[in-house]
Amino acid sequence: MNKIIEVQNVSVSYNNLKACENISFSIDKNQIIGIIGPNGSGKSTLVKAIMGLIKIDDGIIKIMDKPIYKIRKKIAYVPQRSNIDFDFPISVEEVVMMGRYPHMLWWKKANNKDKKIVKDSLNMVGVYEKRKNQIGELSGGEQQKVFLARALAQEAEILFLDEPFAGIDIASENKIMDILKKLKKEGKTLFVVHHDLNKAGNYFDIIILLKNKLIELGEHDKVLNINNLEKVYKDKISIINNNLMVANI
Ligand SMILES: Nc1ncnc2c1ncn2[C@@H]1O[C@H](COP(=O)(O)OP(=O)(O)O)[C@@H](O)[C@H]1O
Ligand SMILES: [Mg+2]
Repeated sequence: MNKIIEVQNVSVSYNNLKACENISFSIDKNQIIGIIGPNGSGKSTLVKAIMGLIKIDDGIIKIMDKPIYKIRKKIAYVPQRSNIDFDFPISVEEVVMMGRYPHMLWWKKANNKDKKIVKDSLNMVGVYEKRKNQIGELSGGEQQKVFLARALAQEAEILFLDEPFAGIDIASENKIMDILKKLKKEGKTLFVVHHDLNKAGNYFDIIILLKNKLIELGEHDKVLNINNLEKVYKDKISIINNNLMVANI
């Protein structure tokens, strides 16, 4: 069975506002999937729903053919940076060690294997030298790498990253994208919430275009056509030198 995630008729609302409306799709494993749509289109809500972090009104979500609570260990989450409290007094290596918690027995301390995995994860993203720093002391790009390292330390099969490139420098973006591609080569499945359409073709195998409803799912050329973009971005699109551009949103 190659279907790693199945979402059937899922709706989520906050009070009376429907953030996700009757969404259905399934995804094959071992791909990088972009979740794309304007602000408020339900991207973060969909990710939180799949991860079982918020209650859904309706529908069924299965991951590797199981409900989320049976498979939580295999799923890692890099939340939207704007929702993290960086004043919290915790060091970089402590953040990454949190990725080991699902593997650790609660009455035991980290063992050598846990410590080695944390070290390797910090090295892989390139922030090992900053391991003793408090997380709030790092730049945006470095913080994002630390949260990616935490996801690596968890040794999850599926990673969800919510706007990992928002407010970070291009060098960090490239480095993170390289790591995501490497993880894909290792057989992982990665979901990336993103809103820069101009790079979507290079970054993602599959795009989920959202505007509270599912507008389209598929490869870049099928999804990001003028018809769909007009539905989603309305007056924010223009064609410059034969390239479809979307004004900053
Ligand atoms: N905790 C919340 N309480 C109430 N409304 C929310 C909450 N989180 C999100 N929303 C609303 O749900 C809609 C979808 O939000 P969100 O999933 O964050 O969109 P996106 O990630 O695409 O920007 C928006 O209208 C947003 O204001
Ligand atoms: Mg969001």
